[in-house]
Amino acid sequence: MQKLRIGVLSTAKIGTEKVIPAMQQGRLTEVTAISSRSPDKARAAAEALGLEKHYGSYEEMLADPEIDAVYNPLPNHLHCPWSKKAMQAGKHVLCEKPLGLTVDEIEDLIRTRDQCQVKAAEAYMVKSCPQWIDARKRVRGGEIGELRMIQAFFSYDNRDPENIRNIVEVGGGAMWDIGCYPVLVSRFLYQSEPLRTAAAIDFDPVMKTDRLTSVILEFDRGQAIFGVSTQLVPYQRVQLLGSSGHLEVVIPFNAPNDRPCVLRYDSGTLVEEEIVSHSFEVMDQYTLQGDDFARAVLEGAEIKSSLEDGLANTRVIKAIFTAAAERRWVSI
Ligand SMILES: NC(=O)c1ccc[n+]([C@@H]2O[C@H](COP(=O)([O-])OP(=O)(O)OC[C@H]3O[C@@H](n4cnc5c(N)ncnc54)[C@H](OP(=O)(O)O)[C@@H]3O)[C@@H](O)[C@H]2O)c1
Repeated sequence: MQKLRIGVLSTAKIGTEKVIPAMQQGRLTEVTAISSRSPDKARAAAEALGLEKHYGSYEEMLADPEIDAVYNPLPNHLHCPWSKKAMQAGKHVLCEKPLGLTVDEIEDLIRTRDQCQVKAAEAYMVKSCPQWIDARKRVRGGEIGELRMIQAFFSYDNRDPENIRNIVEVGGGAMWDIGCYPVLVSRFLYQSEPLRTAAAIDFDPVMKTDRLTSVILEFDRGQAIFGVSTQLVPYQRVQLLGSSGHLEVVIPFNAPNDRPCVLRYDSGTLVEEEIVSHSFEVMDQYTLQGDDFARAVLEGAEIKSSLEDGLANTRVIKAIFTAAAERRWVSI
């Protein structure tokens, strides 16, 4: 079977620890090369992961004709610039979230994709994850009645000033790093764009990143409220509340790859034994994401997380920052 030959931009932690090993297990993906600003880091990563090739610069890897596609896990401010260079080198692109930090740079990337006639996707693994596909099917099928409220939390505690999450200039902060997920899943489940938003943000006084953010999104059919933080106890959960039922996504974003994901359903009971648990086959969401991307490139299947979808997500995030800064509802 033909596999998509993927090269990786940088020795980022998410790549070396999660996404590369996961794509090495893919039915349709093969990671053939890694690049780094440092030749030594590239060599060490290639050796540790058993990759065929390593490059001491991103440019050199993009010039390799034996690479079909690039996975881009660079810091957020480099997502669009390097995805654009990869496209101009004729490569398909799987780019980490958040796709871009401005509407303009994403619009430019969409134009480049079309000019270069390549395929591109944002690496929102939740769109490939069976628990989310199933949750959306249940919501659409009316299992909880009419979906009216989504409530989400996502937090971790990382105060390292050297970490990209804590550096404003490279796109750090809770909203860009993890707030993008509740925005995405709300739009995914309501299958529409929010009409307006209100938000409160507490900024770190030294690092200037948003470290504690609360958001309301108003959709035409319901609402979403969520909280994200970079300086709280690690926690994540999503509640979907309908007119007649409730679904809980127990580990919504860092879905485990060594035990089943679980969705919990109830129709209003407060008795633990009456709650129904749906378990899913053990899988790796990054393997599924890679295969979905490869299927789009190799077989013309639909892109699960398109650049247009990333653009819409970024528009919402921008409106959230404006709403918090100006202390008012902002239309989207
Ligand atoms: N989908 C997910 O589940 C998930 C999870 C975590 C992170 N992410 C996303 O993945 C991306 C990377 O996150 P990470 O935590 O893995 O990052 P990281 O470990 O800090 O890696 C970023 C890499 O980018 C390269 N780089 C190039 N210019 C840089 C600069 N100016 N400053 C810092 N690094 C620079 C470095 O690689 P070289 O030195 O080798 O060139 C560095 O190792 C982010 O966009 C994040 O949002 C996604």
